[in-house]
Amino acid sequence: MRHIKSDLALLNCSQLVTLAGPARARTGAELRELAIIPDGAMLVRDGRIAVIGPRAAIEPGLSRDTKIVDAGGRVVLPGFVDAHTHAVFAGNRADEFERRALGATYAEIAAAGGGIRSTVRHTREASEDDLLDAARRYARWFLAGGTTTIEVKSGYGLSLAAELKILRVIRALGASGLLRTVPTFLGAHEIPDEYRGRTGEYVRLVIDEMLPRVAEKKLADYCDVFCEPHIFDVPNARAILRAAQALGLGARIHADQFSPDAGALLAAEIGAATADHLESTTAAGFAALARACVQPVLLPASVYHLGSTRYPAARAMIEAGLAIVLATDFNPGSSPTASMPMVLSLASTQLHLTPAESIAAATINAAYSLGRGGEIGSLEPGKFADFAIHDCADYRELAYFFGREPALAVYSAGTCVYQRETN
Ligand code: NIG
Ligand code: FE
Repeated sequence: MRHIKSDLALLNCSQLVTLAGPARARTGAELRELAIIPDGAMLVRDGRIAVIGPRAAIEPGLSRDTKIVDAGGRVVLPGFVDAHTHAVFAGNRADEFERRALGATYAEIAAAGGGIRSTVRHTREASEDDLLDAARRYARWFLAGGTTTIEVKSGYGLSLAAELKILRVIRALGASGLLRTVPTFLGAHEIPDEYRGRTGEYVRLVIDEMLPRVAEKKLADYCDVFCEPHIFDVPNARAILRAAQALGLGARIHADQFSPDAGALLAAEIGAATADHLESTTAAGFAALARACVQPVLLPASVYHLGSTRYPAARAMIEAGLAIVLATDFNPGSSPTASMPMVLSLASTQLHLTPAESIAAATINAAYSLGRGGEIGSLEPGKFADFAIHDCADYRELAYFFGREPALAVYSAGTCVYQRETN
């Protein structure tokens, strides 16, 4: 007989921020509608939300066996859905960070063989167990900020064997039950050392050998490409993403991080799920994304960490009708943070988003960008009970206080996966 978990009742939430609403990503004024239940409660049955409402609504469903979780008059949110991370890698780049503080640029370090290629060298050498240990350590950082689902890209292997190794680690991380993971194949993240000056041959390797194996083994839901003129230009990015789509994978693109519009226009042309970064995109790019219903994924923590001031034009994107998403871009080079609350802070101070808009972008819109909008991203009957109890009484405090991790307890499918140790 299938094991049925005993019911769980969550009581005494000062604000139960549900994000209930239309079954699609939110745009325009909808981004400010969080569907908050004051003094809310929720009944969870077999990992999914059975009833949600004021306390009186769940009382008839309580029994002697129901496990009670008292939120203590605090804010409860759906788990954040972090739709852009590079969370599986070996080593870190604290040395490059120090050199950047002294004036070297990210581009100079990359051109000299550092940057992504340095992390690739470490990641190729690491065992699958070591990579999983590191990823589990980072998983606790995500949980401490209230994140319950992460998209994770490969891209620090850049050979068939090393890319498959990373994708298996992403799958193992998801199977560990700590965080839900959505895997993305990013074989076209950089040209590896042994293919320098032979970009065309590397693109053939990605298309002819890597992609078919990744698809056959069902190791990725999406394919991503770092689309920049000096890395994978538009014709190469188009060829890779078209090949991925033909194999049944969705498309995401690192678009216009450093140079304008080409990446956004390609995302629109091929019907990508998302175009990510967009720090250099103009109004023409936004209009193309809107026509093609591509969701922009904004990554302000990478702009911050690179010491740049060129933040994406989030308000213009909302004006253009785009269903914006916010993510950390957690990676060892441009964005070493797993903290969605830090991203919410940057979103308000640098992108001029209200805390409500940021929360919608980091939950329900992120879930839809990953094709998971029916299961996660809001607290509604039938969805997974993925939620976080945060140490505040008003949801705006999540974006207002910065430099702390607010989650006291985090649940995935109704099971506690994180509890803050000291309180
Ligand atoms: O999203 N732009 C390319 N990829 C990452 C950086 C990866 C790295 O520096 O290791 C990004 O910023
Ligand atoms: Fe990235």
